[in-house]
Amino acid sequence: MPKPEIRVFRDLEELSQAAATRFEELARAAARKKGIFSAALSGGSTPRRLFEILAAPPFVGNIPWEKVHLFQVDERSVPPDDPESNYRMTREALLSKAPLPADHFHRMAAERDDRDRASRLYAQELTYILKPPKGKLPRLDLILLGMGPDGHTASLFPGTAALQEKKLWVCANYVEKLKMHRLTLTFPVLNSGANILFLVAGADKAKVVREVLEGPRGRYPAQRVRPARGKRGWFLDEAAANLLRPKTRGGR
Ligand code: 6PG
Repeated sequence: MPKPEIRVFRDLEELSQAAATRFEELARAAARKKGIFSAALSGGSTPRRLFEILAAPPFVGNIPWEKVHLFQVDERSVPPDDPESNYRMTREALLSKAPLPADHFHRMAAERDDRDRASRLYAQELTYILKPPKGKLPRLDLILLGMGPDGHTASLFPGTAALQEKKLWVCANYVEKLKMHRLTLTFPVLNSGANILFLVAGADKAKVVREVLEGPRGRYPAQRVRPARGKRGWFLDEAAANLLRPKTRGGR
């Protein structure tokens, strides 16, 4: 498997600008080639600035929004207007400003009591839009991921049941340390993506960034994102990249 692309930026602003450029390039290329661009967005705090940049000139005018379909990587089991909701953050930063057709955002209804059913419905939505060949996994054009200081990505936290999921595309996951249910895309779907881009910023991530990128494999969930036929990239800010060896920082 080829090494991931690793780029280090001065701060979150530069990192977000570069991620917006990558989003635009991939969106335009996919729209031209296939008439559709699909991306899955993470929540948390890091991508907020990227979403704001995408929703403002010049990017907002360069992205073929009518051909874009946006999915969620994961969602917390809270109502969509809750301050903890990833959908709410995405709506405030991006959806309320960019001219994305309303039915081109695919929200994970993680607030439902029946989370297994909500997961099944979300998998159906992936099928409906991405139309994978029968028996094959859906292939998102871009998956934007974050990483927590414990090495989790999406809502795939260390020691949780969803790490073992091999069949389902979307599943519910209970995260004991947060005392919270989540809905998340699973490793099979993440690893079918065409482009995976991790966005990681902040000094509290420096240690885990070093361990994930330079340490032995298989320790952290984020290390299990290894798309078989896709590209992996890590966009880091200086603070998060601070403990990396020069060779890794320069690296491809
Ligand atoms: C979420 C996520 C999660 C996130 C990381 C990093 O719902 O929290 O999608 O996987 O990407 O926890 O979060 P920060 O960007 O806030 O550091």
